[in-house]
Amino acid sequence: MAELDLKSAINAISDVIENRPRSLREFDQIYMKAGDMVMQSEFVARWSDGKRLSFIGDGDAISVCVAYLKKRGIINYGPSQITVFDFDERIVSAVKRFADREALENLGSELYNCLDVFAGPNDFDCFYTNPPWGASNDGESVKVFMQRGMEATSYRGEGMVVIADDPDLTWPKRVLAKVQQFGIENGFFVQKMMPWLHSYHLDDAPDLRSCNLIFKAVSDEVKIFDSSAIDAKDRLENFYGKENAPRVRYVREKKTLGYGKAHDDEYSLELLES
Ligand SMILES: C[S@@+](CC[C@H](N)C(=O)[O-])C[C@H]1O[C@@H](n2cnc3c(N)ncnc32)[C@H](O)[C@@H]1O
Repeated sequence: MAELDLKSAINAISDVIENRPRSLREFDQIYMKAGDMVMQSEFVARWSDGKRLSFIGDGDAISVCVAYLKKRGIINYGPSQITVFDFDERIVSAVKRFADREALENLGSELYNCLDVFAGPNDFDCFYTNPPWGASNDGESVKVFMQRGMEATSYRGEGMVVIADDPDLTWPKRVLAKVQQFGIENGFFVQKMMPWLHSYHLDDAPDLRSCNLIFKAVSDEVKIFDSSAIDAKDRLENFYGKENAPRVRYVREKKTLGYGKAHDDEYSLELLES
């Protein structure tokens, strides 16, 4: 890696953070910390250089950071095309808003719930997902997001799956094993694992980290498959945590002006006496 101008990179990531909607904890939106976003974005850009990259969910906005770091000339590598698929319209709009403002022509986003049929396109070279981590369902929710990522590449590409990793907890190890097994069952192998890497704004488990688990398809051949909706009860119960099965197709945005600014229902003004 060429040396990164850290000050410019952090300031660029700060622009992206300012544009992000607030996280909704009930859907496992838990944002990565800023320093880790810088390092992760640089790594993702290098990993996907010259390729078509899909994101299955991206509250963190790593997609935006990757495109923006290149646009600002802070790095000179990165994917040729990026599409974000997310069920939260606020996130989809935030990506579009930033892409318009900064003229990031290769960055797009689409409203999509990963429980629905994945209608394509299926010609991505790689996918990235930081899904619900599956603590209460042995990684089943990770597998759902990963399945859509593999479909986006027609089962012939590469994928980066960002999930919990903690040497002192048992459930992340169980999930890591299940997810690796799922990758292998679907024609992928684990090319690389970068353990214990990222921290999050997670108040009830501030020390919990995630890793990068990087999969690569064994074969370069496009697989013909039918994408189908995911509705099996055993795949859905505890999806977003204990007794928190999906009940929402989309999170809809209420249009507000002044993103990144305080909302006027957050404060009141006590005036100077005249
Ligand atoms: C589940 S969160 C995981 C934590 C991650 N650090 C984040 O906040 O982005 C990842 C993304 O998945 C999206 N998401 C959650 N449920 C989804 C669903 N059923 N279909 C598509 N995207 C979904 C969220 O809106 C969020 O942007």
